[in-house]
Amino acid sequence: TGVEGCAAAPIGPSYKDEKPKATVSGKIKFDTVHVLPQTPQLIALLTIIRDKNTQRGDFIFYSNRIIRLLVEEGLNHLPVKEHEVTTPLGRTYAGVRFEGKICGVSIMRAGESMEQGLRDCCRSVRIGKILIQRDEETAQPKLFYHKLPNDIADRWVLLLDPMNATGGSASMAVQVLKEKGVAEERILFLNLIASPEGIEHFASKYPKLRVITAFIDEGLDDKNYIVPGLGDFGDRHFGTL
Ligand code: URA
Repeated sequence: TGVEGCAAAPIGPSYKDEKPKATVSGKIKFDTVHVLPQTPQLIALLTIIRDKNTQRGDFIFYSNRIIRLLVEEGLNHLPVKEHEVTTPLGRTYAGVRFEGKICGVSIMRAGESMEQGLRDCCRSVRIGKILIQRDEETAQPKLFYHKLPNDIADRWVLLLDPMNATGGSASMAVQVLKEKGVAEERILFLNLIASPEGIEHFASKYPKLRVITAFIDEGLDDKNYIVPGLGDFGDRHFGTL
């Protein structure tokens, strides 16, 4: 595969004794896939949400911190224009300003857990929803519902789904967005944990779409759960275990 190993690697600043070792994300060869920097904070946050003994309140709090990092990184991929301001000291500062329009689109149900993190960065952001579920007979993803802003074709879209397992639902969501006129290069897919299979499938199918993920895990089990993963994100977030 295009994913290179994610063996235990030293992490963190310099330590007096031995540096802690932690498993960090695998790397991937696609230029469109951006894995968040594997900082000590990010690894510590992921360690908490992966722990099966972490209670729901902590799961929500710490996954929100990762979501915030994903949204901030996603926003870094949007174009900016030069923008000069005057400071209270009467001096000018040559800065930048984001000019475009954005919207979030969450893949229900788990993607809805990422909406607050997006709102925390972009006040009153518009949010569309897409419901895709696996058809039990065909085992293929099936589109049940979507409701999107009317002018979505003029917007940058942050597509939200915390776990990218096979890439099947996200692929179908992208089809819906493209049918509504959204250009592939204006879609940013944000997820916390991806499988190598899911991310490769997705990145090869949509070569212009950008993916921002916090971690590429080892793989999938026979039920298409990401391993080592964190279990069912939606169940842990919404308390439906
Ligand atoms: N969705 C989840 O919530 N977890 C997985 O491991 C895969 C898909």
